Amino acid sequence: MSKNSRIAYTCRECGKHSPKWLGHCPDCQSWNTFEETKPSTKRGGPPVLLNPALELSMVETEDKPRLAFRLHELNRVLGGGMVPGSLVLISGDPGIGKSTLLLQASSGIAGKGSKVVYVSGEESPYQTKLRGDRLGLKGHDLYLVTETNMDAILQHLQDLSPALAVIDSIQTVYLPESPGAPGSVSQVRECTVSLMQWAKSASIPVLIAGHVTKDGSIAGPKVLEHIVDVVLYMEGESLSTYRLLRGMKNRFGSTNEIGIFEMRGDGLVEVENPSLVFLSQRSQPSTGSVVSATLEGTRPLLVEVQALTSTTNFGLPRRTASGIDLNRLLLIIAVLNKRAGLSLANQDVIINVVGGLRVNEPAMDLAIALSIASSFSDRYVEPDLIALGEIGLNGEVRPVPQMERRLAEAARQGFRRCVAPANSASDVRAPSGMEVTGVTSLREALSGALRGRQQSKH
Ligand SMILES: Nc1ncnc2c1ncn2[C@@H]1O[C@H](COP(=O)(O)OP(=O)(O)OP(=O)(O)O)[C@@H](O)[C@H]1O
Ligand SMILES: [Mg+2]
Repeated sequence: MSKNSRIAYTCRECGKHSPKWLGHCPDCQSWNTFEETKPSTKRGGPPVLLNPALELSMVETEDKPRLAFRLHELNRVLGGGMVPGSLVLISGDPGIGKSTLLLQASSGIAGKGSKVVYVSGEESPYQTKLRGDRLGLKGHDLYLVTETNMDAILQHLQDLSPALAVIDSIQTVYLPESPGAPGSVSQVRECTVSLMQWAKSASIPVLIAGHVTKDGSIAGPKVLEHIVDVVLYMEGESLSTYRLLRGMKNRFGSTNEIGIFEMRGDGLVEVENPSLVFLSQRSQPSTGSVVSATLEGTRPLLVEVQALTSTTNFGLPRRTASGIDLNRLLLIIAVLNKRAGLSLANQDVIINVVGGLRVNEPAMDLAIALSIASSFSDRYVEPDLIALGEIGLNGEVRPVPQMERRLAEAARQGFRRCVAPANSASDVRAPSGMEVTGVTSLREALSGALRGRQQSKH
């Protein structure tokens, strides 16, 4: 153990010890009173223990409820609302709607005696008010702070003692005593640490907006993601009005959940029937389009996979995947080639998941394979059919977990047929009106599901 690791800090007002430096004393509420104390280290003598070991059962807990927003989709991704004293980072591309989400979330909390402090380092109060008016927000008990100096921000938070604090964004604030310009690695880290200390000591949740860099990672040090309790990522296609909120890290809940919103003129609106969003108009049978049911956390979602194959004109065939992993696509093409006899070696293959969703579940494999085969052979699958199943390298169709929930969602959306792995199909209780056909191999699935006469190609 190095000598430095024994350095602790003590509040000169009330004598509270802390292993870390704190800007604000949680006991006597004074500011900037922590000073470095080196425990007496007599050569050979035992070190002074500032924090005695505690038996877990002796740790006192307070049963504080989570702060629940009016936006249920946001609550869902957070795992049921914000835990008191937690730090939640919401990141996303420029203009995706972070400030809109934060302002809507804030105004749902503000009022009835609960104050919210909204710190904006990017926009003037006038601009924020304009957005608030557009969103139809009243703004009572919602305090705007246009400030970038972290010390001043902490003082505002201390004075107002809100139920929720919002920092928009972490890249615009700075601590005067730390080196670097706002947004630099050291500033982002130091500002986040000081917010974390305040949030934990005051037991107040803090929402932070964060920018992402060109390559899509969160701007600032990776350590930012380690410091905060929850990292949510807001994503969406540039031309689509739908926005997905996805958990990347959550110390208090699952990261599998997604929240789905639609960006409208009057703000983000929760999507009540998300399965409809990810299906195109499919009353007519069309080639290259197959629907599957994926599970996003606890929620089943119907997703439409579209494929297009065309003869490669020059050079190597191209494989393009949008919404699924490219390696998964390459695997499925190889299995179609080798195990189902589809000669795709001279075919470009393009796959797209409708609605801008990204799905990584192997249960989608069969739908992807069927859509490719459908486009390649100019045959179609019935519009009321969904395909479920993971494909193995031998061309076998492997079981899928939680079949009942997927089938129930499909039945709710009007689907009447399902091609599924034989193992899962035999012991599943299908919803009434739903016919489940079990298949053991990809070849069997293709011959059973594809309809229409095969036309001469190309
Ligand atoms: N009148 C409007 N009608 C519909 N959508 C609008 C309107 N005004 C703004 N928007 C949507 O709001 C988005 C901007 O939202 P917002 O400012 O919350 O994004 P942001 O993620 O905070 O951006 P930044 O990275 O610049 O902080 C626009 O891209 C647009 O999609
Ligand atoms: Mg913004």
